[in-house]
Amino acid sequence: MASASVAVRASTPVDAPAPLQILPFDGPLGAEVIGLDLSTPLDPDTFAQLHQAHLQHHVLVFRDQRITPEQQIAFSRRFGPLQIHVLRKFQLPGHPEILVVSNIKEKGEPIGLGDAGHYWHSDLSYKPKPSLGSLLLAQELPAEGGDTLFANQHLAWDSLPDALKHAIEGRQAEHSYLAKYEELRARSPWRPALTPEQIAEVAPVQQPVVRTHPETGRRALFVSEHFTTGIVGLPRDESDALLQELFAHSTRDALVYRHRWQPYDMVFWDNRSVMHLAAGTPEHLRRRLHRTTIEGDTPF
Ligand code: SIN
Repeated sequence: MASASVAVRASTPVDAPAPLQILPFDGPLGAEVIGLDLSTPLDPDTFAQLHQAHLQHHVLVFRDQRITPEQQIAFSRRFGPLQIHVLRKFQLPGHPEILVVSNIKEKGEPIGLGDAGHYWHSDLSYKPKPSLGSLLLAQELPAEGGDTLFANQHLAWDSLPDALKHAIEGRQAEHSYLAKYEELRARSPWRPALTPEQIAEVAPVQQPVVRTHPETGRRALFVSEHFTTGIVGLPRDESDALLQELFAHSTRDALVYRHRWQPYDMVFWDNRSVMHLAAGTPEHLRRRLHRTTIEGDTPF
């Protein structure tokens, strides 16, 4: 999985901790970060290196991070304010900033959102300020299955045929949290009926079909099969056909890194650069992860 090794620090002063290493994966995105314990606060230099690595590789993997919810929240907050998921039911008790992603039931009741990531998406693209990035920490993993896939949306834009680029350039699309809600609710125990307040909290928004990354200036496709309901200003059939083409193009194998979870992996991805998908867990196997979600900018 990991290929080249790039030592980020050129030299290590005496008494300094082991240098941070970023090992890019042999694929379209992603890197493993070696030599970092996320339970302790980051010094400014290490933070700056991590920030750059995140912008460059879009998905960072930190192995064996046996950290507390407070430590996950503190690390996540270094990158921005945290967003609270509309499904309050699946907050970690005492920690509303953490969404429990799990297929486990206790006393017949789900303890987390078991079908999170069932369709390709970028987190919270249905909000006026979608997520900058999300962090998922593995707490309990199945013996098989449970992988998460990430697709590079900069490469999706770069490799889009010119005719498709012209068709979507400058256009907006509608994103709605409710787009697939009833469909998911019909076949899962994880989707409670929403209150009027919750529905108001996730009112549909318009986002650019092609967004510009606010920190790197790179362009990226920004539509998803989960949340995008239509391209503004196009007839329904034309919009549907175009979106289907974009969905297929943006999730091609050539753009995808498949994360096979190991115990206490922390994965930190950039929602402005990638979409992700939960590949699925066999029903009889337990899976539980903790997610924090960082607020981003208004897309442009
Ligand atoms: C998510 O979409 O945040 C969850 C992904 C996963 O469970 O693999």
